[in-house]
Amino acid sequence: MPLSDRVAVVTGAAQGLGQEFAAALAGAGARVAGFDVADQSETASRIGDAFVPFSVDVTDAEARRRAVDGVVETMGGLHILVNNAGIYPPIPFEETTSEDLRRILSLNVEAPFHLTQAALPAMRAGGWGRVVNLASGAVFVGPPDIVAYTASKSAVVGLTRSLATLLGGDNITVNTIAPGLVRTATAERSTGADGGFERIRGLQRVPRTPEAADLVSSLLYVCDPGSGFLTGQTLNVDGGAAFL
Ligand SMILES: NC(=O)c1ccc[n+]([C@@H]2O[C@H](COP(=O)([O-])OP(=O)(O)OC[C@H]3O[C@@H](n4cnc5c(N)ncnc54)[C@H](O)[C@@H]3O)[C@@H](O)[C@H]2O)c1
Repeated sequence: MPLSDRVAVVTGAAQGLGQEFAAALAGAGARVAGFDVADQSETASRIGDAFVPFSVDVTDAEARRRAVDGVVETMGGLHILVNNAGIYPPIPFEETTSEDLRRILSLNVEAPFHLTQAALPAMRAGGWGRVVNLASGAVFVGPPDIVAYTASKSAVVGLTRSLATLLGGDNITVNTIAPGLVRTATAERSTGADGGFERIRGLQRVPRTPEAADLVSSLLYVCDPGSGFLTGQTLNVDGGAAFL
C-alpha cells in the first residue's frame, strides 16, 4: 500500500470532505489522526483502528500545538497534513464585519499556516512530507456572494506556492485542491437552498453535482510517493467550470 508507514493528520475529519479524505488515506495504508471540534465517532467507526480522533479547535494556538505533539508522540511521526477544515458562510459583502472576516481567515488561513509550522519538525525528521491545502473553485470564478471566503481561499493558493518554494529541498511537497461545489451536508445547508447546486452545474462541462468521493483521487495523487516532483500546484477539480 503506497502510504503504509505514514502518519496523516486530516483537519475537519468528522464529516464531509474531511471524513472522505481520512478514509481514503487509511485505505492507502496510512494511520490517520482526525482534528475536529465535532464528534468524530462516525469517522472512527467507518475507518476502524487506523483512525485516531483528536478533539481540537485548530484556531486555538495552544490546542493546535498540543495535538500535533500528541500525534508525533503517540503515532510515531507526522508525514501528511491535510488542511481541510474550513467555513464558507454566505455573507453579503456590505454586511461582512471585521469579526466575520477574522473568523473566516482564522480557520481558513491562519490554522493551515500554523499547523504546517507545527508539523514541519516531524516532517523534516522523517525526511518526507505532503502538505495538502483546500482552496475552492471560487478563487477562479469570483462569486459575488462569498467575497470573504474567496479572499481566504486565494490566500491559501499563495501560501501553497511560497511553502512549496521553501520546502522543496526538504522532500516535502505542498499542493492545493480546489473543489467546485460539492454535495456535503454543510454545502446543502449554505448553498443548496438558493438553487446553488443547479446554478453551478450549469457552469460545468461535467453536468452533475460532485460528491465528496469525487475529490479522493486528487488527494491520493498528490500524496502518492511517486508525486514528489508535483508541488506548488492548485488542482482545479470543478467539473470544468473554469479553464485555467
Ligand atoms: N463542500 C464544498 O462544496 C466545497 C467546495 C470548495 C471547497 N470546499 C472546502 O473543503 C473543505 C471541507 O468542506 P466541507 O463541505 O466538507 O465542510 P464541512 O462543514 O462538511 O466539514 C468541515 C469540518 O471542519 C470542522 N471544523 C470547523 N471548525 C473547526 C475548528 N475550528 N477546528 C477543527 N475543526 C473544525 C467541522 O466540525 C467539520 O467537521 C473546506 O475547507 C471548504 O472550504 C468545500
